[in-house]
Amino acid sequence: MLVLGIESSCDETAAAVVADGERVLSNVVASQVLTHEKYGGVVPELASREHLRQIVPVVEEACRRAGVTLNEVGAVAVTEGPGLIGSLLVGLVYAKAVAMALRKPLVGVNHLEGHIHAVLLEAKIAGGATPTEIEQSLFSGVALVVSGGHTSLFRVEARGPGSAQASERSSRATAFSYTQLGKTRDDAAGEAFDKVAKLLALGYPGGPVIDRLARFGDAQAVPFGRVRMKGNPFDFSFSGLKTAVLYRVRGTALAKEAEERRAWREAAGRVTPDDLGARCSRETLDLVAGFQNAVVTDLVERTLAAAERAVVRSVLVSGGVACNSLLRARFAAEAERTGFRVAFPSPQLSTDNAAMIAAAGYFKLMAGERADSSLTAHASLPLGDVQ
Ligand code: KG4
Ligand code: ZN
Repeated sequence: MLVLGIESSCDETAAAVVADGERVLSNVVASQVLTHEKYGGVVPELASREHLRQIVPVVEEACRRAGVTLNEVGAVAVTEGPGLIGSLLVGLVYAKAVAMALRKPLVGVNHLEGHIHAVLLEAKIAGGATPTEIEQSLFSGVALVVSGGHTSLFRVEARGPGSAQASERSSRATAFSYTQLGKTRDDAAGEAFDKVAKLLALGYPGGPVIDRLARFGDAQAVPFGRVRMKGNPFDFSFSGLKTAVLYRVRGTALAKEAEERRAWREAAGRVTPDDLGARCSRETLDLVAGFQNAVVTDLVERTLAAAERAVVRSVLVSGGVACNSLLRARFAAEAERTGFRVAFPSPQLSTDNAAMIAAAGYFKLMAGERADSSLTAHASLPLGDVQ
C-alpha cells in the first residue's frame, strides 16, 4: 500500500510516499530556516504563510520523485497535532481535500508517534530481520522524543499481528501502544539549544551549530550543575541550564563578543560554521561545550533510568536533537557498557519529515482506522496514556 504522508506541524513543509510502511519512495522537506533565522526562532504567522506557499509544490514533488500520480496513492496520512495550529491546519486541510477529491482513505497521525516510528522505519531500511521481528524487538522499550518542540519519554509496546493480545480490528497489522513516562516542564532540549545559540549570536537553528562548535571547547572548563527536580524522575527541565548560560554571559566580555559576532553576521550574510568558530573565543567554545554536555548527560541518564525502571532492553531516540553527535556517542557508549540496544533514525529521518508520518499512518490504516470529515488539528495532542 502506498501512503502519502503530509507534515506541517512546525517550520518544515514535508510530503513523502512510503510503500507498506517500510520503503521510502520519496521524502521531500521544504525548510523555512531562511524565513525564521533572523528572528532566532519560529514565527508562527510566517510559518503558516510559508506552508501555504509550499504545500502544493512539495506534494507534487514527492509524487514526482516516487514516480507515482496522486491517483496511484492508496491513502493519505497527515499530522493532526501537536504543533503550531496555523501550520497544522495547512497540511490538514490540504490532506483532507486530496483524500476527499480522490476518494482515498485518510488518517490523522500524532507528530510524536511519527518521530518514534522514524526509528522503526530506519531499522527496516537497514533490514537484517523480518519487519515483524523488527517491530517486536524495538517496540518493547522506552522512546525518547527530543526536538525543538518536545522532550518526552514513552514506554512503547507492540502487539503483533495475530498475537493473543492483538484486537480483532488490528489483527492484520502490528498495533502500538504508548505510555508517557515524563516530559519537559519548561523548554524542550532543542529549544534550549536554539535560545543559547541566539544569546551567543551563533545563528538558527542552534543545535547543529552548537554541536559543531562544542567539539573545539572543553566541556569541563565551565561547571554546570545537575538538573534537580522534585517529583517524577522522568520529567525534564532545561530552562535552568539556559539561564546558567545567560548568567555567565550577561555583563561580561562574552556579551560584548556576542554583540560583535551579531554585527559581523548581519554584515556578512551567510556564514559557514568554520567562519563562526573563528569568531568565538575559547571561553565561548568552553561554555557551549559545557552546556551541551549538561543537556546530553541529563537526557541519557533519565532515559536509561526509565528503561531500567520499565525493565526493557530497547531504547529508541528520535527528533531533531537525536542528530546531536555527543548524544549519539554517549548513548552508544552506554549501550555497549550496559547491554541496552539503542536505536536512532538517520539524521534525515530524525528531524521533521513526512516519511515518518506515512509510516506511522500505515499501521493505523492497516488496523482499520479512518478519519472522517471532522478530522481537525490540535495544538496539544497527548500520545497514549500518562503514567
Ligand atoms: O524534530 P525537529 O526537526 O522539529 C521539531 O519537532 O521541533 O527538531 C528541530 C530541533 C531544533 O531545536 C534544532 O536546534 C535541534 O532540533 N537540532 C539539534 C541538532 N540538529 C537539530 N540539536 C542538537 N544537536 C544537533 N545536531
Ligand atoms: Zn518534530
